[in-house]
Amino acid sequence: MSSIDQFIATNKEKWNRLYSRRTDDSVAKTESELRSVPGTEETIAPFLRDYFAKLPEGLEVLEIGCGPGINLVELAKTHRCTGLDISKVALESARQLASERGVEVRLVEGGFYQLPFEADRFDCLVASFCLQFNTWSSAQTVWSEIARVLRSGGYFVFKVRSTSRDIPLSAERIEDRGITFVSYEHHEHGMTYHHFSESEIGELMERNGLEKIDLYEHKDERADEEQGKRGWWTGLYRKA
Ligand SMILES: C[S@@+](CC[C@H](N)C(=O)[O-])C[C@H]1O[C@@H](n2cnc3c(N)ncnc32)[C@H](O)[C@@H]1O
Repeated sequence: MSSIDQFIATNKEKWNRLYSRRTDDSVAKTESELRSVPGTEETIAPFLRDYFAKLPEGLEVLEIGCGPGINLVELAKTHRCTGLDISKVALESARQLASERGVEVRLVEGGFYQLPFEADRFDCLVASFCLQFNTWSSAQTVWSEIARVLRSGGYFVFKVRSTSRDIPLSAERIEDRGITFVSYEHHEHGMTYHHFSESEIGELMERNGLEKIDLYEHKDERADEEQGKRGWWTGLYRKA
């Protein structure tokens, strides 16, 4: 088994376990679960709402790492949407949500290191808070897969952790370029993270022919005791 196959096999197991236990408050919630608090109206990540307001309707959209599909089902009201995730437990939640909301989505179980789609297939690729689950070297593979499945002129919309985010005290740094570590924060078996710098994002985009429309770093300086300072990038790019 190659190191990337090994990496994906262990991650799949961890995410399935996490989603199976998501009623337990001691485990991390996904972004969308944190947002879908009863009584709140927020159904799509604000950065997606803002970027998609600039894009035409009726796009062929792929969301990688779609989780339980909160973003995907909302996008499916105006676009043709496919969601991909390594967790079949998350995809089952997405299937139920799509049926409750009466929208059609295509759901595919798979990893983002080898996207099971032909080249130039999508008008838009969405990655909401899933690209940080990488090392610097595995990020190379994901970015080239993203560029491969996007048609020329297609959009890449993403949100990912930035280097302004604090590293948990218990994190174990691993030998890699930049900030890569294994964290046991909310993940009893450890999860691998990479925090991206602006120059790393620039390098990945340029190497894969993705041109910047917007890149913005959000910094949340309110150091909460558990997580410390938070920081993340949101970006909209276009394949040349
Ligand atoms: C923090 S959740 C984000 C879910 C959703 N995109 C959102 O914004 O709410 C990260 C998701 O990435 C998925 N994921 C992690 N590694 C993956 C991989 N190698 N291939 C595909 N999906 C992966 C996880 O299963 C999980 O659903």
